[in-house]
Amino acid sequence: MRTHYCGAVTAADIDTIVTLCGWAHRRRDHGGVIFIDLRDREGTVQVVVDPDTPEAFRLAEEVRSEYVLKVEGRVRRRPPGTENPNLPTGEVEVITQRLEVLNPSATPPFQLDDENLSENVRLTYRYLDLRRPVMQRNLRLRYRVAKLMRDYLDAHGFIEIETPMLTRSTPEGARDYLVPSRVHDGMFYALPQSPQLFKQLLMVSGFDRYYQIVKCFRDEDLRADRQPEFTQVDLEASFMDEEGIMTLVEGMLRQVFKAAIDADLPDPFPRMPYSEAMRLYGSDKPDLRVSLVLTELTDVMRDVEFKVFAGPANAPDGRVAGLLIPGGGELTRGEIDAYTEFVKIYGAKGLAWIKVNDLARGREGLQSPIVKNLHDAALTAILTRTGAQNGDLIFFGADRAKIVNDALGALRNKIGHEKGHAVNEWRPLWVVDFPMFEWNEDDKRWDALHHPFTSPKPGHEDWLASDPGRALSRAYDIVLNGWEVGGGSIRIHDEAVQEKVFAALAIGEQERRNKFGFLLDALKYGAPPHGGLALGLDRLVALMAGADSIRDVIAFPKTQRANCLMTGAPNRVDERQLRELHIRLRNPPAVEG
Ligand code: AMO
Ligand code: AMP
Repeated sequence: MRTHYCGAVTAADIDTIVTLCGWAHRRRDHGGVIFIDLRDREGTVQVVVDPDTPEAFRLAEEVRSEYVLKVEGRVRRRPPGTENPNLPTGEVEVITQRLEVLNPSATPPFQLDDENLSENVRLTYRYLDLRRPVMQRNLRLRYRVAKLMRDYLDAHGFIEIETPMLTRSTPEGARDYLVPSRVHDGMFYALPQSPQLFKQLLMVSGFDRYYQIVKCFRDEDLRADRQPEFTQVDLEASFMDEEGIMTLVEGMLRQVFKAAIDADLPDPFPRMPYSEAMRLYGSDKPDLRVSLVLTELTDVMRDVEFKVFAGPANAPDGRVAGLLIPGGGELTRGEIDAYTEFVKIYGAKGLAWIKVNDLARGREGLQSPIVKNLHDAALTAILTRTGAQNGDLIFFGADRAKIVNDALGALRNKIGHEKGHAVNEWRPLWVVDFPMFEWNEDDKRWDALHHPFTSPKPGHEDWLASDPGRALSRAYDIVLNGWEVGGGSIRIHDEAVQEKVFAALAIGEQERRNKFGFLLDALKYGAPPHGGLALGLDRLVALMAGADSIRDVIAFPKTQRANCLMTGAPNRVDERQLRELHIRLRNPPAVEG
């Protein structure tokens, strides 16, 4: 049907007769001559229809936005002064000999090149939204990244194996999506939160190196970087330690970034213990592009008069920390007030600050609502530890450590990017030495920080029982520019250690058998040492594409409320279907259409 893609017609084709198929992107009437920008997946080219071809001209007059056309014509150089240097096809145009309308189009609900489309409209007419060049580019990048990863893993001896979508609950800690069974009254499958248990079983089965590009399902609160169904590049290997896995994954990311977007990632990626990430950045996924760091002040605030600081400094899970903003003396009261509002999102009760006007003048040279309540030793510690200079500003957080970390961590990112304390580079980071467990204050119990099959560090097994909070794990997360793009661990292959972890998590015998019995059984039959990792493909591609949300790299994503605006899912189903599934609605809809 066609000889060339629209976007691929160039000066090399001048005087060639071409046949193009595509969509009328824009049509302009120019005093007797009609111009149509004809678009296909490769781009647009200018098509000229003049009255010398009366049949084509008559049709062209009828053409509207998004009509599907077939154009046969000769490529010619555009008249001087009318070239478009921004388009690969900008030197040429196609003078039409034959025009065929393959399909008209209803008036689209929006202009494809409207920059300010609401996302709801875009998602409702996603098939039109996806016609936009940026979306075409994003999805092709996604394909290319997945292909490059497959090639890399294949070259390293990994084979792709599919695992079930209808399965038992998996242990990633989010809520499950459940699927009712028709055959078994009152029973449910769970959609996998990840293939975690299956990939470990494949190691027991001796496949040695597994990977899968796979959908995972988690019913959690959604954000820009979270979808209820998302895609992992999931892998697992036997007889490999954390060095092996990290080297393999780093190598893959370097190769893929280079080939897909010509970006150079550092070699090797830096590594940082979890505790240091929290201390310096208040986050286990620090954006290393930002140069600002937190300063620990808890120890010097225990005996100050200022209760706002002394309280948390003396509480077992409290923290007082500073955030130095070089040049922050320039911040206006309005800006400081806005930042104070911003940290409240994270539960902070306020945002104390000191402007360092003139160090030589001692207290006189400091401008602040709080210095009067701080003794000399505390002030000296603040100034020396932060290294503040004249013209700087220091913000403070004092509260439960989690609130201080969340609030100052987020503020660090915000000010870092807004006020020019960030570099424009790719800054990956391995975060390592995670604690095994995290104290859950609401339920008064320890939760697994990764999942319950994560191995403790050698020598930390005894703390599992005696001092669970102290035990570190063999888990590692990969962070890129402040996004957690992957995580994994070396697993427990020893039944006795697994028992201790379950005990620390207060998962009783009954629950163990019920939830993970098949895995525990498998571990008895010669499980090899193994470990792995999963990358969030959506997040990686969004970063590479420069997209703000992973929705922009997913063909048919859901909204923040987990709806599909295009298909209308989730939707009501008819009574008969429910009956077959043994489900009775407590509040059936009054009238069902
Ligand atoms: P984890 O739960 O860390 O690990 O998931 C791995 C990566 O998947 C991405 N991700 C998400 N992306 C979009 N939307 C979501 N709702 C979402 N949730 C997670 C993140 C994350 O780093 N089985 C383990 C891996 C292992 O131990 O091998 C697991 O699933 O980028
Ligand atoms: P106050 O004494 O409550 O008026 O607060 C004095 C300063 O401390 C103000 O700038 C508040 O924003 C700030 N502040 C109050 N609570 C906190 C807190 N928990 N952490 C950091 N700063 C706070």
